[in-house]
Amino acid sequence: MGRKLLTEHVNVEGIETFAVYRKHGGYRAVEKALKMTPDEVVEEVKKSGLRGRGGAGFPTGLKWSFLAKPEGVPRYLVCNADESEPGTFKDRYLMSKLPHLLIEGMIAGSYALGARTSYIYIRGELLYVLRILEKAIAEAYAAGFLGENILGSGYSLDLHVHPGGGAYICGEETALLESLEGKRGNPRNKPPFPAVQGLYARPTVVNNVESIATVVPILNMGGDEYAKIGVGKSTGTKLFSACGHLNKPGIYELELGVPVEEFIYSDEYCGGIWKGRELKAVVAGGSSVPILPKELILKTAAGENRLMTYESLSDGGFVTGTMLGSGGFIAMDETTCIVKNTWNFSRFYHHESCGQCSPCREGTGWLEKVLHRLEHGHGSMHDIDLVVSVAKQIEGNTICPLGEAAAWPVAAAVRHFRDEFEWHVTHPKEATQPGAVYRGNLV
Ligand code: NAI
Ligand code: SF4
Repeated sequence: MGRKLLTEHVNVEGIETFAVYRKHGGYRAVEKALKMTPDEVVEEVKKSGLRGRGGAGFPTGLKWSFLAKPEGVPRYLVCNADESEPGTFKDRYLMSKLPHLLIEGMIAGSYALGARTSYIYIRGELLYVLRILEKAIAEAYAAGFLGENILGSGYSLDLHVHPGGGAYICGEETALLESLEGKRGNPRNKPPFPAVQGLYARPTVVNNVESIATVVPILNMGGDEYAKIGVGKSTGTKLFSACGHLNKPGIYELELGVPVEEFIYSDEYCGGIWKGRELKAVVAGGSSVPILPKELILKTAAGENRLMTYESLSDGGFVTGTMLGSGGFIAMDETTCIVKNTWNFSRFYHHESCGQCSPCREGTGWLEKVLHRLEHGHGSMHDIDLVVSVAKQIEGNTICPLGEAAAWPVAAAVRHFRDEFEWHVTHPKEATQPGAVYRGNLV
């Protein structure tokens, strides 16, 4: 088993309380940070090489150093706890089991950025987690780690938790800020980035739950030491939520760099594919990243072992970023119908599109409609090219990444599983039988 930097104490009884968390070394990072200058804290995070754990993998220290600091203007740290990506459930686990880890990271991060008021924007459906956080925040206030003059340092911070209304789009950082301001959660055009004009048009850093929690081990061990863990520019450990047809689905904290094959098949992790079946495909980082067939998820196109890193999971052919995404690792066995799965994802994106820009509003609707007829035995060969063409027209033409998140997986599914789409056209009666699945593309 690799090192556990976030979840080392997760199974300790009562770790969600201040007293037990503190007994296990909790809040040392805050004590350490308050003895440093804010710039020194930012420097440690930069040295660690930490990359955003929400999905984009943007370097956290760099994002912090972009924060505009005009004299006399308030700044904010906002934690994006609106985890909604299908297949992703690591942040809710972290918050419900280790609420003080997030609060400690929020205090250290807010101090580094010069924020005096900070927010945790949590997905509306996670009300039970909101209650856990509120209780932990009250404990931190009572212990003098929040509020006026924290530990006599002269630094003061107020921390609030705010529930969203249950819209997936509010996980997009600018939609989240609109929602936090009390408006409809419509994404804003970028630039300006939140670092310049964010909450209430003030400089704001928006970070994912796990990114903020990771600041705690970084400060405890030092940025240089943290950077020694992992492979290349994928430093440290990362949480993955493994789901789908696996023997042992669940949350795993991995040192970045574990081979994908080991993650899927070793008993230390997911324990292989359930019911003795064959693996067919994987969506490695939540539903917004392209699907890969078995042969491409285990090895790169160049024949190298695929690793659980930002770099190794990066050549899906459609993404500019990384397929490591939000860490939502969805495994599909040989009985999975790729056409049905693609239609199902496209239904989700159509439903969640905010409707502001027409390529996304109309395009996601057309994707859903055409995939529906392909799945239900009414499609034509032309429809297969049509969905790819619609996906291409969405790409690069929208305000926020939801449009691309809807388009890329469809284009990738057709690219890697075209024969399965064609089988739905040539064998409509067979394809629409309950439980029927095309197996011609299994390796
Ligand atoms: P992005 O790449 O546009 O931005 C990443 C971050 O870097 C943002 O905070 C942005 O403000 C900042 N940034 C980028 N360039 C900057 C610059 N020049 N100056 C200042 N700041 C800059 O990606 P985004 O929209 O934040 O995230 C997209 C990803 O989110 C997707 O790839 C997907 O994997 C993931 N996602 C995760 C979900 C979840 O539930 N965890 C839900 C939906 C999507
Ligand atoms: Fe809204 Fe879709 Fe445009 Fe994003 S891409 S702003 S979700 S319509």
